[in-house]
Amino acid sequence: MAKEIRKVGVIGLGTMGAGIAQLCVEAGVETVGREVSLDLAEQGRDRIAHFLTRKVEKGTLEQADRDAAVARLTLTTAVADCADCDLVIEAIVEELEPKRELFAELDRITAEDAVLATNTSALSVTEIAAATTRPERVVGMHFFNPAPLLPLVEVIRTELTADPAYETAYAFGARLGKTPIRCNDTPGFVVNRVLIPLLNDCVRVLDEARVTPEDLDTGMKNGTGWPMGPCELIDLVGIDIHVHASEALYEALREPRMAAPPRLVRMAQAGLLGRKTKRGFYSYE
Ligand SMILES: NC(=O)c1ccc[n+]([C@@H]2O[C@H](COP(=O)([O-])OP(=O)(O)OC[C@H]3O[C@@H](n4cnc5c(N)ncnc54)[C@H](O)[C@@H]3O)[C@@H](O)[C@H]2O)c1
Repeated sequence: MAKEIRKVGVIGLGTMGAGIAQLCVEAGVETVGREVSLDLAEQGRDRIAHFLTRKVEKGTLEQADRDAAVARLTLTTAVADCADCDLVIEAIVEELEPKRELFAELDRITAEDAVLATNTSALSVTEIAAATTRPERVVGMHFFNPAPLLPLVEVIRTELTADPAYETAYAFGARLGKTPIRCNDTPGFVVNRVLIPLLNDCVRVLDEARVTPEDLDTGMKNGTGWPMGPCELIDLVGIDIHVHASEALYEALREPRMAAPPRLVRMAQAGLLGRKTKRGFYSYE
């Protein structure tokens, strides 16, 4: 039932889009990358080329295969260049209106049976799909950061998603070498629905139990086998990103555990964003 994918469009070549485009070209799929400027598109391609060169240096990729993969990516600033794509994966800013505008345009220009996927973390796939005239071909494909490394992709269906579009997205996730799981369009989908309140609980325990971040991380790693402590993980994700995701889940579900703990809000306001600013729960100087 899954449609054969010969050409993919990736809209937005930022952190996630560049990672997704890398997966596509490595899987041998012709890929069009769309950015708001050619400069940004080139920055995305440079990052992909850099990661693939590192693979060659490590001996996990042949030089000729690296060159062929990079050559499979074409860059554009025109959404119209995605007109003949069998699948378009959107990875632009996490805001509803720009996503809805983009999906309305993709709906107009692509073939009727092209599948349209959003990589949104916290917005409603259903609301994005509602901007199109054929919401049955809209799905969520939620990759995790860094997309080339983390195996999971959540494949999300709305009430209106039709089976062929859904199965196409699921099969394509597997073709990219990912481990797809099936879920419905609910706030936070699966992993973030569980992980975000859990991490917020961990931060609240810091104050309640007057435990240090080091000891909390040591506790969770050694007491439950977590590969990384919660404070290390929030620093890696970025405190601003985590606060934003918490706020979105809280707004959708109104469960107190979803709300960002004041300590995290203060850290975000102070610019202590974790690894990317070299200071968060830990110092990375
Ligand atoms: N960063 C994460 O950990 C993560 C994980 C999973 C999902 N996501 C989701 O992926 C999406 C992208 O996040 P990101 O972290 O890659 O953001 P980012 O800011 O790194 O990249 C977004 C890119 O989209 C570009 N862009 C904006 N509007 C555009 C448009 N109309 N057409 C083409 N390009 C456009 C921007 O120039 C930017 O380069 C968001 O929906 C986010 O929620 C992020």
